[in-house]
Parts: sequence; C-alpha cells; structure tokens
Amino acid sequence: MPLILGVETSCDDTSLAVVRDWQVLSLVTQTQLAQHRRFGGVVPEIASRRHIATIAAVFQAALEEARVSVDALDAVAVTYGPGLAGSLLVGLNFAKGISTALGKPLLGVNHLEAHVYASWIGLEPARQPPLPAVCLVVSGGHSEITLMRAHADHILLGRTRDDAAGEAFDKVARVLGLGFPGGPAIEAAAGALNGRGGPPYRLPRPWLEGTYDFSFSGLKTAVYRARAGKLGPAEQRRIFGDEDPTPFREGDPQALARMAAGFQEAIVEVLAAKTAAAVAEFDPKSVVLAGGVAANRLLRERIMASVDRPLFMPAIPHCTDNGAMVALAGAFLLDRGEFAADDLDVRPTLRLAKDPVTR
Ligand code: KG4
Ligand code: ZN
Repeated sequence: MPLILGVETSCDDTSLAVVRDWQVLSLVTQTQLAQHRRFGGVVPEIASRRHIATIAAVFQAALEEARVSVDALDAVAVTYGPGLAGSLLVGLNFAKGISTALGKPLLGVNHLEAHVYASWIGLEPARQPPLPAVCLVVSGGHSEITLMRAHADHILLGRTRDDAAGEAFDKVARVLGLGFPGGPAIEAAAGALNGRGGPPYRLPRPWLEGTYDFSFSGLKTAVYRARAGKLGPAEQRRIFGDEDPTPFREGDPQALARMAAGFQEAIVEVLAAKTAAAVAEFDPKSVVLAGGVAANRLLRERIMASVDRPLFMPAIPHCTDNGAMVALAGAFLLDRGEFAADDLDVRPTLRLAKDPVTR
C-alpha cells in the first residue's frame, strides 16, 4: 500500500496531494487566479514566482490533511511536462529535494497522462477503466483524442490544429467580457439563457471531415465577427436565424447568453461527435474524458449520450489541474519500477501520444 506524494505546478495551480493506492488522503490546491485575472490569462513569470512562494506551505498542509508524516512517504511523483518551463521547474526541484532527503524514488509524470488518470481516482482496480480506452483529453493547452492501449501507451488519433478547446473557451470569454478562466464563465453565461431569450446562436461547426482533428479558431473568429457586427448577410442569417435575424447587441444579457450557449453547443457537438466516431472505429472497452474542459456539464452529458461504452469522467474538482491525478499516475510508474533519473529535467513540450504508424 504505497503512500505517494503528487506535485503539480505545470501552470497556475500549486497543487499537492497524498494518495494511498487509488485513495486520495489529501489534496491541497493554491490557485493563482487572483494574480492572473487582471491580465486575462496566465503570466508565466508571475506563475513561477507564486509557486515558489506557496509550495512549502501547500506541502505542509497536504501532509497535515492526510495525517501522515513526511518520512511515511514511499515515493514522490511530479509533473515534468508539458507546461510552463518556469512553473514546472519549481515543482520538479521541490520534488527532487523531498525525494533526495527521504531517499525515496522520484517519479516523473506526464501532465496529460495524469489528466487521464484523474478518472482512476477513488476506484479500486476492479472498477477502474478497462483498456483499451478512447480518451478525449481537452484542457487549456491541449485537445487530443487518443487510443490508450495499455498504461503509458497512447496512440494519437486526432488533435487540434490551432486552439485547444479550453483556450477557445478562454479567448471567447475574453472577447465577450466574461472574464478568466473562460470555461466556467461561458458555462455560467450559457446557463442564464431562458426560454424567452431565443435559441443559442447557430455558430459554425468545424468538422474537418474524415479526421479526428479539431480546429476551433474559425469558431472563435465567428464569435469575434458576430460581436463586432462584421458578418456578411448569408453568415448573419445562418448564425442568427431566419425568423430572428437580430444582430448581437452589446449589453443585452440574453444576446450574451445566446452567444455563450451557441459557442458551447458548437464546441461540445464537435468533441462528442469525434469521440463517438473514434469509439465506432476502434471498438474500445471504455471511454475516458480528461482535462479541465471535462468539467463542462454539457460536454459530460453529450458524451454520455453519444457513446455506448462505459464512460469514465473525473469528479469535477479533479478535472482541472490537481496533485491527486499526478500521484495516481505516479502509482503506475512505481508499480512498473519506472523511476526518474536524478538529472530529470522539465519538458515543456512533452507529448501524450505516439503518432500512429499507419492509419
Ligand atoms: O487542465 P487544466 O486545468 O489546465 C491545463 O492543463 O490547461 O484546464 C484549464 C482549462 C481552461 O482553459 C478552462 O477555461 C477550462 O479548462 N475549463 C472549462 C471548464 N472549467 C475549466 N472549460 C469549459 N467548461 C468548464 N466548466
Ligand atoms: Zn492540465
């Protein structure tokens, strides 16, 4: 029953957790949202400084909450990529320090793999996702569909060609004046749509037929242009509808709700349809939803409705960056005896999946 510390600092959350097997004994997250909000996005220099300032206290709190002493730890798991180099370095150096001081193994975790393992949290082995699994990984920095054939063995089926899904949520929220982070803000704005306000605007769906790839920048641009009143007549009719060709009006809360709901619908429809198509082609034993955007309730509902396999999604607080998923990913590394070398360095562009040999 190994006791593992998980350390996550790849972006703007300092998050540490103690897990015993699949059970989370503690999870403490210090978010930096307040520091980044006024810039409308994460400022890397501020992020690494904040990690340095808070990591020791977050570590102490995680130990206290788990009611374990530091020398009871059996291993230290840490995200070493992908992510912001300066932020990753803080967590990696901290984890190296603890692992060296204790003489316990260091486990180097791929952040995207950790997002996938968020669906393993709290589940005993018999209830964990059976493999192979089709994984939809949608976060602020990445959007991919993979076929997870075995642990640490993902084949890339498709990925975004431009913005990540979470990034699209963040950029559209900024343009609509909804604040940061954009995902929860758009979800809340869309939720304010009521029956009298009219249907969600019909924004374009970027299908990229015949591939599992995504492209969200055209959708984002459609929102920019609709808001700025720069649509052509045909486009205007398509988006705003024939019977109700009201252009987007600034300051009208229902127009804002229709735009937010229309954007959310478009992105979710594409993600759900591509996942369902991958399930039909690759016949997996399960489907795993992962990454910050997996917190989106409409996405969760639509994926549930469109795949006919056991679906695994993390509890909402485990969708966004957290130390528990890192510790859980570390447990599988420990199990296989895959320890990190002393000179493990950060890998800001580390990938999740291998490209398929032929498709
Ligand atoms: O996985 P994550 O915490 O960090 C990265 O690894 O990128 O994902 C953060 C992203 C942000 O872009 C945020 O807007 C998005 O996840 N997100 C959501 C929701 N909650 C967070 N997107 C849509 N709906 C949500 N409820
Ligand atoms: Zn993440």
